Formats: sequence, C-alpha cells, structure tokens
Amino acid sequence: VSEASRETGRFREVARVVSLRELPNRYFTVTFSLPRIAAAATPSQFIMLSVRAPSDPGWDPLLPRPFTFLRVRPPHIEVYARVVGRGTALLRASRAGDEYLALGPLGWGFEPPRDRDAQPVFVAGGVGVAPFLHLAETLSGGRRPVLLYGGRRRADIHLVDELEAANMSVEVATEDGSLGTHGRVTVLLEKWLKRPAVEVFACGPEPMLEAVARMSRGRPCHVSLEARMGCGIGVCRGCAVPLATGGFAEICVAGPVREASEIWG
Ligand SMILES: Cc1cc2nc3c(=O)[nH]c(=O)nc-3n(C[C@H](O)[C@H](O)[C@H](O)COP(=O)(O)OP(=O)(O)OC[C@H]3O[C@@H](n4cnc5c(N)ncnc54)[C@H](O)[C@@H]3O)c2cc1C
Ligand code: FES
Repeated sequence: VSEASRETGRFREVARVVSLRELPNRYFTVTFSLPRIAAAATPSQFIMLSVRAPSDPGWDPLLPRPFTFLRVRPPHIEVYARVVGRGTALLRASRAGDEYLALGPLGWGFEPPRDRDAQPVFVAGGVGVAPFLHLAETLSGGRRPVLLYGGRRRADIHLVDELEAANMSVEVATEDGSLGTHGRVTVLLEKWLKRPAVEVFACGPEPMLEAVARMSRGRPCHVSLEARMGCGIGVCRGCAVPLATGGFAEICVAGPVREASEIWG
C-alpha cells in the first residue's frame, strides 16, 4: 500500500519490520522495508512513524514520531534509537513482520562537504550519531571524515566497528571516562578546530549543538536540530525554532539541518 505525493517527493508507505537489534542501555536498531522512501532518502532527512502497536486499532500514541536514517540500503532503512517514552518503547518491542505507517523522506538533510580540501569533522552525541553513517556512506572523494562521538558512559556508545567500516576515523569521549577520552565530545573538537580548514557537521542534544556552534564560530558549521514534531509537514508549527535574526523556522520542512550561525548568531 504505497501512495506517492509527486509534488513533494515524499511517500506514505507501510514500514514492515525486517529485523531488530537490541543494544545496551535501552538503545536498539530496527530495519524496515520501505522501498520508495529508501530510494529517495538523503542523510539526516527523516520519517514520521506512527508507532501504534500493530494490533491496536486505537489512537495511542496519537502522533507519529520522527526518526532519522542510520543506514539506507534500498529497499531497507535501518533506524537507531533509544527508549525515552511510550513510542520508542513500542518500537523496541517490535517483531519481524510488524507493520507501521511511515511518511518520508522529510526535511532537508546534510549536504556533502563544500570544500574538498577542508577536513570534515562530524560531531555526534547519543542517538545523534545515526545520520553520520548514512552521510559517510554517500560521500565520494575528498578527505576521510573524522567522527567525534560522545556519550555519558560506555553503554551509550555503539556501532563503532560499523562506523569505522564506513571509512570514518572515530574518536570517542565519555563523561565518566569509561571509554575513550574523559569528558564531553567538545574536548575532542578543540583539537580539530586548531586546523586551518575544517567543516563541522553536528547532531545531538541541543546543549551539545550550541556548544559546538559557539566553538566553531567563523567556520562552516551545519547542525541537525531536534524539536518535538507533531506532523512533519509544516502544519502544526510544533517544531518552530527561534532564529538568531528574529522569527522562527519550522524545522520539519526548513530543516532539520541549518547553519549554526542562523540559530546562535
Ligand atoms: C528530525 C528528528 C529526527 C530524530 N531521529 C531520531 C533517531 O534517529 N533516533 C532516536 O532515538 N530519536 C530520534 N529523534 C527523537 C525521537 O523522535 C524521540 O525520542 C521520540 O519521538 C520520543 O517518542 P516517545 O513516544 O518514546 O517519547 P515521548 O513520550 O514523546 O517523550 C519522552 C521524553 O522525551 C522527550 N522528547 C521526545 N521527543 C523529543 C524530541 N524530538 N527532542 C527532544 N526531546 C524529546 C520528551 O520531552 C520527554 O521528556 C528524532 C527527532 C527529530 C526531531
Ligand atoms: S512538525 Fe508540524 S510544523 Fe513541523
């Protein structure tokens, strides 16, 4: 059952669960069969997924939830997520063959590095690592990206082998020092910002994004923003983010990727 919207390039499609991997500390990955969305998806775009239990004809949770793409191998899309509430708990309890409804791909995502001589530096916190595997897999030529990957503790860091296999050099920081460098991911970024030509791409919790944006001022810095999303198509205005120049941007349609200077000046 697949209905295309030719005007917008997005599709409403049944997402059939192919497999699920449970990871430490309530993280998991789910692979869906989503042929039309997978064929069109670019890094850091996302789907809105209605995560009602497949057997539940009711309305709980009422609103779909946004998820970005970890890996896109048409006809499959893999999502990396953490249980934080009812929707993500339902998703983690999925079984192969379960079906949900998805809308996507939505928003505009990361573009490949603009300056092929600049060092691409990816900065990720927690589930914010997801778009970088997809981004690295779509890059051709240019410098090998470095991925600076932060979490509270060892149990928050996953998939490092897979990230390295996607031709990224991975550096890890944990706040309790249980893996990699002791401290926040910004400790790792300081060193890379000493280089003359660096292009920064960041995805993670808002305080991390703001810190990365402030440190990277004067350099190209692209951030993938997060907000509560009710519709994903610019209707509910739930995802409006204030802009440095005044006014707001609905980041489901005018994002989630923005220049850091547009948000933090
Ligand atoms: C563009 C985009 C892409 C995303 N991609 C991923 C992804 O790949 N993997 C992943 O695990 N998560 C991702 N998220 C966040 C994910 O959508 C939320 O974790 C999910 O909607 C929570 O649903 P829930 O029903 O489990 O929790 P709820 O019961 O809705 O909320 C539980 C708690 O989480 C907080 N919360 C919920 N949604 C958000 C949000 N969007 N931003 C900040 N805090 C929130 C709530 O304030 C509350 O405290 C993304 C969000 C956006 C906007
Ligand atoms: S989520 Fe509804 S306007 Fe962006």
